[in-house]
Amino acid sequence: MEVEANINSEKLPQHVAIIMDGNGRWAKQKGLFRTIGHENGTKAVKETVESCARLGIPYLTLYAFSTENWNRPKLEVDTLMKLLVSSLKKEISTLQENDIKLHAIGNLDALPGKAKRELQDVIDKTKNNTRMTLTLALSYGSREELTKTIQEISLKVKNNLISPSSIDESVINNHLYTRDLPDVDLLIRTSGEQRISNFLLWQIAYAELHFTETFWPDFTKNHLFEAIVNYQNRERRFGKTSEQIEN
Ligand code: IPE
Ligand code: IPE
Ligand code: MG
Repeated sequence: MEVEANINSEKLPQHVAIIMDGNGRWAKQKGLFRTIGHENGTKAVKETVESCARLGIPYLTLYAFSTENWNRPKLEVDTLMKLLVSSLKKEISTLQENDIKLHAIGNLDALPGKAKRELQDVIDKTKNNTRMTLTLALSYGSREELTKTIQEISLKVKNNLISPSSIDESVINNHLYTRDLPDVDLLIRTSGEQRISNFLLWQIAYAELHFTETFWPDFTKNHLFEAIVNYQNRERRFGKTSEQIEN
């Protein structure tokens, strides 16, 4: 089935965010090490990134490593960090060819030096690209982001730079890691889990949620197209009535 043909290019989500889950189970099912699952997950990343750019989606955010993922066995964490470095080196050409700007959110200082340097290098080299912004959430946790935001705003209040009554949603937005990104329109999670796992809690306030049973390494462009078609068939009411939306 050609799902892509059913996509309405006028109604694309402006910001798609994906919780790429199920690498470990994908590998286990095949009798392989979890790390092989992560390696195969990078193929799905490439296909998804290229497909989103081709469709004309301006913002794609991928949850690659959470603050909680630091608690995994050291060997797995090391493998994921190495995979990050090798993927950045390998895929910079994909980003350049597709006019994609790389961006990162999270506690990036917690990343190993090599990963931090490689990441900064690709961010610098792609900074003038304009077709799509690809954001990697690395060492990212929404609660940590909100905690940091509250600390920064409190300090400004203490130093009389802003008054408590002037703190509104836009002030909060401007202190988040995601300050340069629009709200999430469509959140996809693979692997059958139906939870948020500390991802973009503030930013998904009105996102449409799409859960699929597919493990991340098996996620293809057709799964992406299916999620977008599904999104386009929903009515986003933002608290209003259906009649108000129709008019
Ligand atoms: C997602 O796959 C990748 C990361 C969280 C880094 P998992 O590694 O969580 O795979 P499962 O959930 O154990 O199958
Ligand atoms: C969420 O997946 C984090 C990423 C996809 C990077 P997890 O596999 O870590 O989430 P939980 O622990 O099952 O909720
Ligand atoms: Mg998981």
